[in-house]
Amino acid sequence: MSGLFLSFEGIDGVGKSTQVELLREYLHDRGREVVVTREPGGTPMGRELRSLLLEGSPDGAEISPRAEALMFAADRAQHVHQVIRPALSRGAVVISDRYIDSSLAYQAGGRELTVEEVRSLSMWATAELLPTRTYLLDLDPREALDRVGRERDRMESAGEGFRRRTRDEFLDLARADATRFMVVDAAETVDQVAARIRADIDRLVDSANGMSA
Ligand code: TYD
Repeated sequence: MSGLFLSFEGIDGVGKSTQVELLREYLHDRGREVVVTREPGGTPMGRELRSLLLEGSPDGAEISPRAEALMFAADRAQHVHQVIRPALSRGAVVISDRYIDSSLAYQAGGRELTVEEVRSLSMWATAELLPTRTYLLDLDPREALDRVGRERDRMESAGEGFRRRTRDEFLDLARADATRFMVVDAAETVDQVAARIRADIDRLVDSANGMSA
């Protein structure tokens, strides 16, 4: 049985973690080994990088856009090496809460690096591993921010214009690769969103002929 690599993407506050958990339960009930993981911070080393990235440099200095992109890429390289590839070789379903498209949307969409630069960095870091399916949960940035609430980390404090650009960048990425992406309207209820994702995963798994149930 071959593994299946899935990722969830979207701006902060669209409900990714809820949907990741619902999909984990669904696939587990269908008899699959499911590995749920996330970026940044899917490994112990990655968790060190995650706190740097979200809390900032210990001396309070601004993190340069290149240093930031490299840290996300280093986190991803270790994540693929230590968690994702081994799980896929065992035949597991891997669900990652964020992956390469977050780097493309956040590091290239809103800040000074180009999409091409960030993509080649990340493709190098992962030795070209891409998910079979990426669920993009799409929501108006204002509504997403209301869901995040008052506690915001460094990335979430980046401002309205940055959030809009990031959302638009995600939508552009999805349009450019309609085979890999499925865009889901995250303004719908949790159950409606989950049902759309389940319908897609059933097709995906059945067409891969990997489901035993
Ligand atoms: P996330 O874990 O989704 O945040 P939370 O735990 O608050 O739900 O992601 C942390 C932040 O990192 C998020 O604002 C998006 C950002 N990010 C990037 O900028 N680039 C990347 O490559 C990744 C994976 C995340």
